[in-house]
Amino acid sequence: MSNNIESVLKEDRVFAPAEAFSSAAHVKSMEEYEELHRQSIEDPETWWASQADALHWQQRWEQTLDWSEAPFAKWFVGGKLNACENCLDRHVREGRGDQVAIHFVGEPGDTRDVTYNELLGRTCAFANALKDQGIKAGDRVLIYLPMIPEAAIAMLACARIGAVHSVIFGGFSANSIKDRLEDSKATAVITADGGWRRGSIVPLKANVDEALEGENTIEKVIVLERCSNEVTMTEGRDIWWHDATEHMTDECPAEAFDAEHPLFILYTSGSTGKPKGILHTTGGYLTGTGSTFKYIFDHQQDDVYWCTADVGWITGHSYIVYGPMVNGATQVMYEGAPNFPDWNRFWEIVETYKVSIFYTAPTAIRAFIKAGDEHVEKHDLSSLRLLGSVGEPINPEAWMWYYEKIGGSRCPIVDTWWQTETGAIMISPLPGATPLKPGTATRPFLGIDAAILDETGQECGPNEGGKLVVRQPWPSMLRTIYGDDQRYKDTYWNEYEGIYLAGDGARTDDDGFFWIVGRLDDVLNVSGHRLGTAEVESALVSHDAVAESAVVGKPHDIKGQAVVAFVTLKEGIDGTPDLNKELRNHVGAEIGAIAKPDEIRFTPALPKTRSGKIMRRLLKEIVATGKVSGDVTTLEDKKIVDALIASGENGNG
Ligand code: WT7
Repeated sequence: MSNNIESVLKEDRVFAPAEAFSSAAHVKSMEEYEELHRQSIEDPETWWASQADALHWQQRWEQTLDWSEAPFAKWFVGGKLNACENCLDRHVREGRGDQVAIHFVGEPGDTRDVTYNELLGRTCAFANALKDQGIKAGDRVLIYLPMIPEAAIAMLACARIGAVHSVIFGGFSANSIKDRLEDSKATAVITADGGWRRGSIVPLKANVDEALEGENTIEKVIVLERCSNEVTMTEGRDIWWHDATEHMTDECPAEAFDAEHPLFILYTSGSTGKPKGILHTTGGYLTGTGSTFKYIFDHQQDDVYWCTADVGWITGHSYIVYGPMVNGATQVMYEGAPNFPDWNRFWEIVETYKVSIFYTAPTAIRAFIKAGDEHVEKHDLSSLRLLGSVGEPINPEAWMWYYEKIGGSRCPIVDTWWQTETGAIMISPLPGATPLKPGTATRPFLGIDAAILDETGQECGPNEGGKLVVRQPWPSMLRTIYGDDQRYKDTYWNEYEGIYLAGDGARTDDDGFFWIVGRLDDVLNVSGHRLGTAEVESALVSHDAVAESAVVGKPHDIKGQAVVAFVTLKEGIDGTPDLNKELRNHVGAEIGAIAKPDEIRFTPALPKTRSGKIMRRLLKEIVATGKVSGDVTTLEDKKIVDALIASGENGNG
């Protein structure tokens, strides 16, 4: 289908939307986008109010935005609504109760379809169980579950009664649960006996038990039976999900909560060791996720949508639970790994359920490219009409493969830039309007005033690199870092007065399209997971043998970045292969397997400036190129460079 390819320069391929797609889309042309965007930036409150109107409010708001205490925004002041009612009851009331909400595919091959009716009934019953266990509005509840419908049910049940959920990714370890528990002072945990991953059982309940050793604020642990593996139940504290819901009715009033009532806390890595509890509230978050889902995925009532993210990440919150459900979407939810039992799994699911919108991450796409086209070619993927990408810049080769092999050169790709903090997609094509270029997230969404600024706060010209910012508040923005208003101000609002600093470097091209270059701080992106180098360093240093460590990212074909740790050992300890392995496992136990360094390089010392700052630039160059060509004049001990280079060559990594 080369008729919709308009070639410009050889590296500058442009793919205009096909006529048939545009004519049925919510936004049909670039002119329409330009006009809507211009208006929405001149008067964001009118635009966002029009989007909030798509929700069901039990009491309408009086003021769209109160920015008088910036950077602490209040959206839809005086408005009252229930997030769960907006995701479920509304669709049932409007006659869509029999529509499938979730086509669930378990890793072992078990499947079930859950309708909106059933989802509502089960969520209400579970909400009643939460109340029965003493959980009330404002309480923090940790959710540590596999990718199963009950994860959505648990989140929505919390929302229904105004409890604040904090989902912890199932790949995190007991220590990570403990950190999040200490920070959030949660009073309950919702977990499962286990979850399936590549044919084995992830011992979720056992991890929770380990995290709860010693003093803590947890009063109740609700345990779903998923794998029927053996678990220990602590009398008085632990209760099975099925026992807790047994006598509960499936009716539970959807109480009205303030638009600014906290909906959830989600922890994300920062450049210091302590994870940041990103706080999102109700009315603005639903407005942002609901409207972006509709326009960017161009959602239509007969679509079958599939987002392959985990509910433990913001993508799962915004584009599995809230965004799609506010829109009454039908979606696929898959529990396991993309390559279990083999690399056919995803495409088999697309074929079986006739998925029309597919949203995944570049790291997954690169893994599929490596696995070989034969797994894709065996399947009929003609139901697909739109593809999405999220998590990191998608390299043009991966983009082209995705476009041709998965999308049959027929489906637009929405490369969506956003963050845990932004709550919803901020920069992305509108698929019926925006001409696509491989590698760019293109233009800001309606109502989003994104720009690139230089050090002095001046807007950069085309092709000039700078810092990505958002100049006006938007409804789904984070409200603070939980319990740390100061860190919220320092991290996002200190660089430029009244302007949100995203922490990414970027440039625009001659068409005003945004190209994201990567993080400005020491945050890595490993297989789509954001990891603070400081978190991995503190895990390493917590091992008895380690004196000091510096962690950097190394470009990696599939994962995006690999974790490389330079480690100096305590006096008298040898850097043996056994210790190397032990340290990697230690990080796995402290944070989770995703954080395990791909390489550990023992070195007699780390490169430091005279003031004692580790020169990461130098380490990054060494891991990427094996040499140092940059300026080393500020380096305290120049001899160290040779030892560092050798650390990669002597095979101890
Ligand atoms: C960081 C946010 C947003 C959900 C998943 C990650 C990078 C994200 C893109 C994209 C280039 C991207 C940025 C951003 N990022 N999407 N389409 N193009 N970079 O959420 O863990 O909060 O990470 O991911 O660096 O700041 P997160």
